[in-house]
Amino acid sequence: MFDSGVGGLTVLHECLVALPEEDFVYLGDDARFPYGARSADDLRECSVRNARFLLDRGAKLIVIACNSAATAGLDAVRELAAERGVEVVAVIEPEAEIAAAITENGRVGVLATPATIEGGSYVRALARQHRDLTVTAVAAPALAAVIQRGFPFSEAVVEQVRAYCEPLRRARVDTVILGCTHYPLVRPMLQRILGRDVRLVTAGHAVAARIERILNARGLATANRGEGTYRFVCTGDPESFRELGTRFLQLPLGDVEKVELDGA
Ligand code: DGL
Repeated sequence: MFDSGVGGLTVLHECLVALPEEDFVYLGDDARFPYGARSADDLRECSVRNARFLLDRGAKLIVIACNSAATAGLDAVRELAAERGVEVVAVIEPEAEIAAAITENGRVGVLATPATIEGGSYVRALARQHRDLTVTAVAAPALAAVIQRGFPFSEAVVEQVRAYCEPLRRARVDTVILGCTHYPLVRPMLQRILGRDVRLVTAGHAVAARIERILNARGLATANRGEGTYRFVCTGDPESFRELGTRFLQLPLGDVEKVELDGA
């Protein structure tokens, strides 16, 4: 599983709960954070490089736990993984499915990084859902960075997030996709700003269900009956990753291995 930083831990957490006996390796490409400000070409390159690293480590399935990377890199990662007979599960499609299924007024909001919004992946994924939906997509350029820094939440941050949410409120959406895996970490703030009646959609649960389906269908589910292992690899400072990751995952991360990955 990979992300640009700690955001993908929101997906990993669901996987650790839903598939406790499996082993996970999580790669945080934090030396290249933020992905949300990168070009599509750059993101494709980062995604392929991250996936290659995980495949070389023996991954039996790849999870793209980053919406920006999935927007630009999913096809390229699928192509690479297919050469080794490995399937890829990504965010975006699962949230689009959930949002289309639960919205009552057909007005769906998307809050995501500039790379994800400009890449148009949610608008396309929602258009595939066979429902007449009005989509309001908003980029929140500074939000992932606040979370990746480990906060703090000043009044200025809250005001900034309020401004991001304003077009969603004006559009009277009843469902908002948190289209960046960092955002569930600030769910309470978003819920307060958007109001109790707005449903927030995140990917973790649906991604874990998809992984389970694929592993079972391909006979790849582990025979292990005890708790599996989870390990962390990052490209930036392992101590900061460990400190922040422990806080967010609320599980001990153990030693975080630092790796150098070539490229963008
Ligand atoms: N967690 C990443 C995503 O889901 C984005 C954070 C970043 O900008 O690197 O898009």
